[in-house]
Amino acid sequence: MKKIYISGCGGMLGEAFYEVFRAGSVLKCTDIDVNAPWLSYLDIRDLDAYRKDVTAFRPDYLFHLGACTDMEDCERNPGNAWLTNTTAVENAAYIANELGIPLLYIGTAGIFDGHKPLFDDWDTPNPISCYARSKYAGEVFVREHVARHLVCRAGWMMGGGPAKDKKFVQKIMHQLSRGATELQIVNDKFGSPTYTRDFAHNVRSLLEKEYWGVYNMACDGLTNRLEIARAILELRGLQDQVRIAEVPSSHFSAEYFAQRPPSECLINAKLSLRQLNQMRHWKLALKACLDDYYGAC
Ligand SMILES: NC(=O)c1ccc[n+]([C@@H]2O[C@H](COP(=O)([O-])OP(=O)(O)OC[C@H]3O[C@@H](n4cnc5c(N)ncnc54)[C@H](OP(=O)(O)O)[C@@H]3O)[C@@H](O)[C@H]2O)c1
Repeated sequence: MKKIYISGCGGMLGEAFYEVFRAGSVLKCTDIDVNAPWLSYLDIRDLDAYRKDVTAFRPDYLFHLGACTDMEDCERNPGNAWLTNTTAVENAAYIANELGIPLLYIGTAGIFDGHKPLFDDWDTPNPISCYARSKYAGEVFVREHVARHLVCRAGWMMGGGPAKDKKFVQKIMHQLSRGATELQIVNDKFGSPTYTRDFAHNVRSLLEKEYWGVYNMACDGLTNRLEIARAILELRGLQDQVRIAEVPSSHFSAEYFAQRPPSECLINAKLSLRQLNQMRHWKLALKACLDDYYGAC
């Protein structure tokens, strides 16, 4: 069985990686937020501790998942954003190179500026926020310094349920669970949802083939926040009880002040060319996500 060290594994994607990879692999999963019995503590910003922990485990692969994913927090604390999203990735690259093992890094669709409707694997990034700049710097370092690297770029992540999902789907589900009868949804942001479990499965297929490099890896189908909110209401049978009020993103600018591109839509061109695009259409993946984490309706 292959041994995999997964750092930053306590978040929404980490939970899916744990579920998908624990069958057939020996895992060591770490995070600064030790929120499950299968996690132990490791701060990826601490190179000595990171190196010591990974080296002691002697893995076949290093998966580096940890990041500061709160975009407003990154704007408020840029030093920590760079330390967590860039320098810590450099730490992972050093360790992978020292041990001669492949490194997986999770990139983001947010590295594009959104000034065209969709982005393939070869489009040139132009990040416009601190989060995106720091994540892109991490991606570039991995690409330039680790021979056997996988950089898989996700879009709007969904998965993890009430315990772990910090993003849009859980924000909507939280409002619904509290009996909301109106949802205010932005009508000017386009993107690609990415179901955490589908993402983890597709990473596993790429690893098995050893197709190293950079891959867009988002759900099929381009969409926007409004469509996703409408789909959630329909899937939960609430379309007649809950009204959607369309608002521009400027409506939330006090709370969400980090700059977000108008479009973060990805197409998985390289995965398709390699006949390895296993990402489902976002509507199917959304249904699976709601069923898996909130119970079937
Ligand atoms: N969420 C998205 O929409 C999205 C989209 C594209 C790409 N990604 C990327 O996907 C990866 C996984 O993110 P996610 O979606 O699972 O977000 P997440 O739920 O925020 O998980 C990230 C985990 O990393 C942890 N972490 C933060 N600083 C750390 C440190 N210094 N040392 C160790 N762990 C640390 C976080 O702990 P705390 O919660 O305590 O900070 C959290 O448990 C990240 O690289 C992210 O940039 C995410």
